[in-house]
Amino acid sequence: MTNLVEKLKTNRTLSHQEFYELLSSDAFDSSLIKSADEIRRKIYGDDVYIRGLIEFTNYCKNNCYYCGIRCANANTKRYRLSKDEILDCCREGYELGFRTFVMQGGEDPYFTDERICDIVSSIRKEFPDCAITLSIGEKSYDSYLDYFKAGANRYLLRHETANDTLYNKLHPETMHLETRKQCLYDLKKIGYQVGSGFMVGAPFQTLDNIIEDLFFLSELQPDMIGIGPYITHKETPFAIYQSGSVELTVRLVAVLRHMFPYALIPSTTALGTLHPEGREMGLRAGANVVMPNLSPQKCRKLYDLYDNKISTGEEAAQSRALLEKRVEAAGYRVVTAIGNVKR
Ligand code: 5AD
Repeated sequence: MTNLVEKLKTNRTLSHQEFYELLSSDAFDSSLIKSADEIRRKIYGDDVYIRGLIEFTNYCKNNCYYCGIRCANANTKRYRLSKDEILDCCREGYELGFRTFVMQGGEDPYFTDERICDIVSSIRKEFPDCAITLSIGEKSYDSYLDYFKAGANRYLLRHETANDTLYNKLHPETMHLETRKQCLYDLKKIGYQVGSGFMVGAPFQTLDNIIEDLFFLSELQPDMIGIGPYITHKETPFAIYQSGSVELTVRLVAVLRHMFPYALIPSTTALGTLHPEGREMGLRAGANVVMPNLSPQKCRKLYDLYDNKISTGEEAAQSRALLEKRVEAAGYRVVTAIGNVKR
């Protein structure tokens, strides 16, 4: 093993300059990825946890410059699932062996705290042995607390970038990095298992910015970390910018596994979208979660965060058998388990 990788393995961190060296070429990739896989196997074996993703609304009041469901995109047909439709997704998911449901959506004012709590408590009542993950953006401490009391136990909220200047280039002036960070600390304080993360290769992002993300995550100590390549969406102001790199994303997954040996790290849909083997590459670099889509078929195409987002094949929760085969071919095993973070 090369020195830098060994050092990262021992100390779970590096200096800014050392991270730069590790990330800026493919020189360390084979030893880095091998070492990440060893760490992951030591803690999680060959288990791959599956999460059923329910994209329940693509309405969003925000206008993030990179995102396809931003409110200013008039060319996306908007949809919302009813409580019954959401519960049907969970029922189908449970039959397929899912024990975590992730309710993800835009920041949709229709879904008031009262409606969210009603849905969460209904899922909690019908599926007491499952984890309920929310991914519905920035809310007040009290709202987060209400969802938690209703039965939600995990929350995903990517910080997107830990650099203030870059944050302001990616988001309209109504949005602030400080607010995002406050939300993450509120969620932790309440007792959620918290997930954060960032996009790799977003417009204007530098390698120095990415290293800032690593240090921010060190400070936050999230239970789950989701990263994926930025992917261009043609109906956004960033349509002219190129997508991020699969190679750098995979390298970062391996780095994150070293920094956070116990974290739940998904091999993301964005990775699978940019490369036909992207999912497998993520798993081999230390990722231990996949999040297939449980949303009704008719909505899949409409939740278009970025161009060509995959939603059929092994990406669909309904194709669990296919997913299992691919995960096995990569050297791992899909398990039916709630898959809480090990600490
Ligand atoms: N490319 C890649 N990821 C994106 N997201 C939003 N838009 C894009 C895009 N164009 C990610 C954001 C968000 C998550 C739900 O999807 O990081 O947090």
